[in-house]
Amino acid sequence: MKVKKLVLLSSLLLGLTPLSRAQIKGTAHDFSTYRNSKYNQSGEVCILCHAPHNTDATNAPLWNHATTTQTFTAYGASGSGFEVHFTPGQPDGSSKLCLSCHDGVTATNSYGVNGGTPGLQDSITIATGGATAPRTALITSSTTKIGTDLTNDHPVSFVYAEAMTQNAGLRDTSYITPLGHSIGVDFLDKQGKVQCTSCHDPHLSNTGTYWRYQRFSNANSALCLTCHIK
Ligand code: HEC
Ligand code: HEC
Ligand code: HEC
Ligand code: HEC
Repeated sequence: MKVKKLVLLSSLLLGLTPLSRAQIKGTAHDFSTYRNSKYNQSGEVCILCHAPHNTDATNAPLWNHATTTQTFTAYGASGSGFEVHFTPGQPDGSSKLCLSCHDGVTATNSYGVNGGTPGLQDSITIATGGATAPRTALITSSTTKIGTDLTNDHPVSFVYAEAMTQNAGLRDTSYITPLGHSIGVDFLDKQGKVQCTSCHDPHLSNTGTYWRYQRFSNANSALCLTCHIK
């Protein structure tokens, strides 16, 4: 008991909240009101991205958002002039899901893909005033809009090991990350690929340590140096 109290006390003193982690609520990805409640009258946080039923089964997990149909120019695509040690391809996995809003072309309020949730209609009636909200809300900010040209963004959707075996500047997949497991477990998806989620967790907070949904603090570029030997 005494030890427990001491731990609790010291974490309080350090400003840490025991047994909790940063949360999505109140961040850019908290869609409970979707900015001004025009597009989400249900008050749910997750609904623009996930729903419990009638989701798009091709885009697990329980994906409730329209998926981008854009053709992207990948980092390292032929003619780009960069020397990469992997085969560049179209974004897939979670990166494709992120780009289903961050492409700046697919409407953020284009959700409710298979019915059953608000916003599924091409236009929804806004409670007050009876006006309609067409699915046209786009990410336009020059920083948050990643766009369809990915040649100026860190590469995603490629197999880490393919690059690692040809590039001595990359750590082995067994290297332990600050999150406590290997690069393979903590950073790569089931196909062994680097994705947006290697560096970001869309569910975390966007302040302090988790600034811009980073999975841990990038102070001293700790995130970058987990994969790159520099
Ligand atoms: C901005 C879009 C977005 C919002 C909002 C969002 N998620 Fe997710 N979520 C994702 C994406 C993208 C993935 C896939 C990540 C991956 O494959 O690593 C995911 C994966 C998950 C997973 C499975 C993987 C894991 O991390 O455990 C769960 C569970 C989940 N989300 C729950 C939630 C809940 C609950 C909420 C609301 C409180 C929520 N999400 C809100 C985008 C979102
Ligand atoms: C449903 C649409 C949607 C999806 C899907 C989505 N985002 Fe976002 N995201 C947004 C919006 C809207 C903003 C706020 C943009 C603005 O205000 O300029 C944002 C902001 C961000 C920011 C900036 C946060 C800040 O506070 O500066 C990051 C980083 C981000 N998203 C990463 C991701 C990643 C990584 C994924 C996939 C795992 C993802 N997003 C999926 C809609 C989405
Ligand atoms: C290799 C790690 C890494 C990968 C992969 C990555 N990001 Fe980021 N991202 C970062 C870091 C670090 C920042 C904060 C940059 C800064 O200091 O301004 C950031 C910032 C952002 C921002 C905020 C705007 C900005 O320019 O600061 C958005 C939005 C974003 N990322 C979305 C994405 C999406 C979508 C993907 C996948 C297509 C992705 N990121 C892949 C590391 C990454
Ligand atoms: C999940 C592991 C991982 C993380 C984290 C990561 N990178 Fe990378 N990065 C890679 C891999 C793998 C490549 C492809 C290297 C190759 O093809 O030889 C790469 C490519 C690059 C390249 C292009 C190299 C080239 O030859 O064109 C740069 C620059 C870079 N990363 C910088 C960063 C920065 C800055 C960060 C932190 C914000 C970061 N990386 C975080 C794995 C990672």
